[in-house]
Amino acid sequence: MCGIIGYIGNKEAGDILIEGLQKLEYRGYDSAGICVADEKSISRTRSVGKVESLKEKFALNKHKGTRGIGHTRWATHGAPLEKNAHPHSDLEEKIYVAHNGVLENYKELKDILQKKGYTFTSDTDTEVIPHLINMYKAEGVNIKEAIIKTVKCLTGAYGLAVIDKDEECLYAVKNGSPLVLGIGDGEMYISSDEIPLIGKVENTVFLSDGDIAEIRASEYQIFDINNFIVEREVNEIQNEAENISKEGFAYFMEKEIFNQPQSIKDSMRGRISKDNNEIIFGGLMDHWGKVQNATSINFIACGTSYHAGMVAAYNFENITRVSSRAEYASEFLYRHPVIDKSGIYVAISQSGETKDLLSAIEYIKKEGGTVMGLVNVVGSSISRITDFGIHIHAGPEIGVASTKAFTSQTLLLSMLAIKLAKDKGTLTKEEYIGIKNEILDIPRKIQKVLSCNDDIKKLAEEHSDKNNTLFLGRGVDYPVALEGALKLKEISYVHAEGYPAAELKHGVIALIDKDMPSIVLATKGTNINKVLGNVEEINARGGEIVMISDEDQDVFSHIPHTRISIPNTHPILTPILSAIPLQLYAYHSVVVRGRNVDQPRNLAKSVTVE
Ligand code: AGP
Repeated sequence: MCGIIGYIGNKEAGDILIEGLQKLEYRGYDSAGICVADEKSISRTRSVGKVESLKEKFALNKHKGTRGIGHTRWATHGAPLEKNAHPHSDLEEKIYVAHNGVLENYKELKDILQKKGYTFTSDTDTEVIPHLINMYKAEGVNIKEAIIKTVKCLTGAYGLAVIDKDEECLYAVKNGSPLVLGIGDGEMYISSDEIPLIGKVENTVFLSDGDIAEIRASEYQIFDINNFIVEREVNEIQNEAENISKEGFAYFMEKEIFNQPQSIKDSMRGRISKDNNEIIFGGLMDHWGKVQNATSINFIACGTSYHAGMVAAYNFENITRVSSRAEYASEFLYRHPVIDKSGIYVAISQSGETKDLLSAIEYIKKEGGTVMGLVNVVGSSISRITDFGIHIHAGPEIGVASTKAFTSQTLLLSMLAIKLAKDKGTLTKEEYIGIKNEILDIPRKIQKVLSCNDDIKKLAEEHSDKNNTLFLGRGVDYPVALEGALKLKEISYVHAEGYPAAELKHGVIALIDKDMPSIVLATKGTNINKVLGNVEEINARGGEIVMISDEDQDVFSHIPHTRISIPNTHPILTPILSAIPLQLYAYHSVVVRGRNVDQPRNLAKSVTVE
């Protein structure tokens, strides 16, 4: 995924673009660039590495101008080199394009252009776009028509920002990758999401696939691919400025971990009636019959969201008695699945832009299936193409490692599970009320778990020389073990594996030695005595053991281990609590190794390419 910013107005564009890119940097950060234009000239500055490098370079030669575009890159085609950084230009260096997405037919377009004498300076797919626009302009059409003709040639996903030296306007084109307009007073913005617009504008317009926006300082117009005007809804901007500051924490991930008592409250807000204990999901009201009568419940997602889907699959099948499963979107899509038209498919995504999941949703809908969304980013592509859904309202999640989104996803899916079970009669009213009361108490219990931070920090420091770690769990603890392993891997670069505890004896136990700590989840949600057997096996081979278990659990007291306790709660809710020590362990493992918590190597916050 990449970040795109554009500005046209009455202020100097350069610094505005760079500030915007710094707020988009979580979307990709291997290289960056801006180009700024005034009435007479246009100039581009690009750099490898973080936006800070671009800022330093631009400061050496601040090109004046009140309009411009910028881009921060997560490389797909072409290594992270300055020549591959966006914006890319035509040969006359008049037309510049910033692109988020992947062009599937760029090779054939590049061949056509090269045969016409166009030369290329980069290894990117994007560079075909400014050349095509130039080519069509040379045939005598105006810039907007040239952009429309170009877009008609493109296959793939793209969000584009386009600037032409000779035109006092910007263009934005959306197809598969997000773009939002910021509507200011005498100034306009283009951005990949709302975060850079917070505090700058009051209103935004999310573009839809096929939209081409022509943007001037005090007005904009949106056209479709046939050059007909289309109207789009104007929204009040969704987030508050404080959501995008670290508020005194060292990293966004640290802030987001410690923000979980609040983000969980935000996710619950207005969804549990005080009068009659009903759980209310406004987005499902008109579709509740479809959910209630579903013959199967299928959770489709990627990464951490997939782990939340796994927890939900265990819980839904356990208490609603409806066949439930979770599957990676990428695997689901390419195994040519049979779609259960009387079931429901739940697409879980923090960003709402994950391409693997978008493609799976399109497949399901094409086959006549019903897709419910569970998404954090309002206005995102997934939240708009699903048949109905729930926004998790966890607030912007900036750290690449997903934390508060996981706990909010898991909480809301637990609420949905007990609501459905109560309606189906597989959960008594008393059981339902009991779990509902536990849900209301979760923020306090999360706060209690966070008090283990110092113990976890100490543990991570003791493990600072470990290069491999095993995470084990049974039942709902198993997806949490997978989540703990992913957290550690993706930000500390330590190899880690999540495994079903019982599978240990089927091969993995050969790995156990004093240099490979095992972090074992053993909560009420699972068969503790069976886990005890697995822990004994590790102990017998001299493996170091860390236990994450309920505070009153004492079956392991005879085995040497480091104990991290979580408060008692209902088994379907334990994953919300047991994930938190693992988030902290991953966080401190990065800090103790001196690596970058929020922007780990090779990653981006959302993966908008398959
Ligand atoms: C989680 O820490 C990772 N950053 C990654 O696995 C992420 O969960 C995955 O890419 C799915 O993203 P989404 O929830 O935005 O769809």
